Amino acid sequence: MSSQKVKKGIDRREFLRSTAALGAGVVLAPKSFGQAAGSGPDDINVALLGAGAQGQVLLNTCLKIPGVRFKAVCDIWTAYNQKRVSRLLKKYRHEHNTYVDYQEMLDKEKDLDAVLIATPDFWHTEHTVACLKAGLDVYCEKEMSNTLEGARKMVQAVKEAGKLLQIGHQRRSNPRYIHCCEKLIKEAKLLGRITTINGQGYFETFMGDEGTLVISESAGRGAVYREPSAPEWDKWVKAGYVNEPALQPRLATRVAAARKKEEKPETGAVLDVRETMAPPAYELPVKMEKLYHQPHLENFFDAIRGKAKLNCPVEIGYKTAVTILKVNEAVEAARRLDFKPGEFTA
Ligand SMILES: NC(=O)c1ccc[n+]([C@@H]2O[C@H](COP(=O)([O-])OP(=O)(O)OC[C@H]3O[C@@H](n4cnc5c(N)ncnc54)[C@H](O)[C@@H]3O)[C@@H](O)[C@H]2O)c1
Repeated sequence: MSSQKVKKGIDRREFLRSTAALGAGVVLAPKSFGQAAGSGPDDINVALLGAGAQGQVLLNTCLKIPGVRFKAVCDIWTAYNQKRVSRLLKKYRHEHNTYVDYQEMLDKEKDLDAVLIATPDFWHTEHTVACLKAGLDVYCEKEMSNTLEGARKMVQAVKEAGKLLQIGHQRRSNPRYIHCCEKLIKEAKLLGRITTINGQGYFETFMGDEGTLVISESAGRGAVYREPSAPEWDKWVKAGYVNEPALQPRLATRVAAARKKEEKPETGAVLDVRETMAPPAYELPVKMEKLYHQPHLENFFDAIRGKAKLNCPVEIGYKTAVTILKVNEAVEAARRLDFKPGEFTA
């Protein structure tokens, strides 16, 4: 990497942070950064490394975020993924170059601020470390690495480069999840003592001795179920932490079906409705009206501009990696493994 590149990169990023510090008082002509007409002075120049399914999700989300300019796309699958993404960027008038070799991209692109990495997990360490060494801030998709050794190298690289690394655990920036974590679990302690947590990709359950939270990124799932033995939650309803429970749709459907059957005794059908009533479902009052990954990417770009702290810095990404990857160890060893607190720090 040339010293000119380092200087240029530092100048741009220092400028982004200093304009954040100064407020909106500084305006430079768009040509200062050689960008297309219409771009703003604190635009962030990014490259997409890995333009597959998730790379396209990140790209589509970034297209909704003002002030993000794609300057480069790197993907080894030129015939399909790279072509598809490049075509889309042209449509949105992001002037960019395409690459197959990420190192060539880092050598040639002199005007980048950040790289979004969405290659397969086993590439994350190599790609992230190289981008950080090139003086760039990095958003790397989860899982941060497929090995703990790789994850540790990433933590080390952040320390050495002094750059930002956001790991793509997007729920950490989702206002519904933040509300549940900060308000319902930590502050109101609505779940009591949490005994079981289950996450399988599309939704998560947190079961405690006083309540259970079921939550998903999808707006259709998000409720807290109160155990009959738990203290009343009226004060939390009044405080706006949860909404009054509604009659559950499945229960309502069963009741309606039972009534309908009663009206038609000639069918001879017998409906047995002796089922334990589900506990009341208190709905979440917080809505998330953006694309799933948008708040997390916005948080990353705000951090580059010096306006926010990362919601998933590398230290938190590492803790998650330990939790996930130790499970693999336990499966391989076919025995239970206990976590020790010291293991969560790289
Ligand atoms: N945050 C989420 O909710 C979420 C969801 C899905 C996937 N992911 C993560 O996103 C990452 C990508 O997953 P995906 O489903 O998009 O996979 P994918 O296979 O669809 O895409 C990977 C892309 O990387 C390209 N690639 C592979 N090696 C490369 C290299 N050395 N240089 C340049 N390009 C290379 C491939 O050609 C492909 O286009 C994974 O880490 C995955 O875990 C995250």
